[in-house]
Amino acid sequence: MSTDISTKFIVEEAKESRIHEVDFDTLLFGKEFTDHMFECDFIDGKWQTPTIRPYQPILVDPSLKVFHYGQAVFEGMKAYKDDAGQVWMFRPDQNQIRINKSAKRLAMPEFPKDWFFEALNRLLVLDDAWIRKGKGNVVYIRPFIIATEPAIMAAPSTQYKFMIILSPVKSYFRGDVSVVFAEHYSRSADGGVGAAKAAGNYAGQFYPTNLAKEMGYQQVIWTDSNEHKYLEEAGTMNAFFRINDVLITAPTSDRILDGVTRKTVIDVARREGIPVEVRKITVAEVVAAAKEGSLKEIFGAGTAVVISPVKSFSYQGVDYPINKPEKSYADLFKELITDIQYNIVEDPFGWRYKVSADNY
Ligand code: COI
Repeated sequence: MSTDISTKFIVEEAKESRIHEVDFDTLLFGKEFTDHMFECDFIDGKWQTPTIRPYQPILVDPSLKVFHYGQAVFEGMKAYKDDAGQVWMFRPDQNQIRINKSAKRLAMPEFPKDWFFEALNRLLVLDDAWIRKGKGNVVYIRPFIIATEPAIMAAPSTQYKFMIILSPVKSYFRGDVSVVFAEHYSRSADGGVGAAKAAGNYAGQFYPTNLAKEMGYQQVIWTDSNEHKYLEEAGTMNAFFRINDVLITAPTSDRILDGVTRKTVIDVARREGIPVEVRKITVAEVVAAAKEGSLKEIFGAGTAVVISPVKSFSYQGVDYPINKPEKSYADLFKELITDIQYNIVEDPFGWRYKVSADNY
């Protein structure tokens, strides 16, 4: 793929901001969008002129391949504002690498790294007012690529659209969540697309998650599709288990998303001297630990949820409550990680990325 990265961005600024229409105190996750969006089309084997324009609907043909074959991948990132008004991102290099890995798995073209960063910097500078200061306020960043060839032949699209939209958000879940361990449905399988951030991975979870919700649970913790024996991930977040003081999480594989928050938790835990085991973890082991009282915590980790404590799990029709200890790992990691994200503490890992007009 040839891409002339000296191509200048076209930037059309919104005439008027819609920010006064938004109540920042009652934000629901992903319902409001900022004033601008980024768009770039892949046509004739190359990415065309990158463009920023006012947030608006896109007019498309009903035959677009994305509607018929689900050729679509996305990322989830966030922008944080510190007390001095400086905006930061957190490990954006990881998302840039991952969206291209996901794209490759779905036979889609990779998007140039320089443009990815220029687009993010430009958008966040333009929509700076939408990023409120302080912990709990954040702009969720959603880059995505869709297949835009208007043709319903079942073959990879020859045209694509890469976009970035921004959404001011607060927390993803209200409070701690109850989960159910998957016993029948599966999220992904060996050799499948589970490790890609493919839109279809989320669509496939909606029905079993609805069944869980009807029974009073908010999330499913997926198990391996062969035997439903090993605990894997929770769909919108990777899963962590604390048995006594040991933190355990499943290794990544082609069934599990290589979550940025997941690897951040592992690194922070090791720095704190917490024993971490990245290994297969069985349902039987967690049920036994819950019964004997050594299961101290389960929590999810993801960009949208940050760290989401689990208050109970259900397996084979039995509910197992988890009483979060006073010195919980979930609370500790949430604090340590958000302190880095909001530039409250030093960043010994070099994870913070300063958003600036100097970057383009
Ligand atoms: C994220 O954490 O960014 C995700 O992609 C989860 C999303 C489906 C809300």
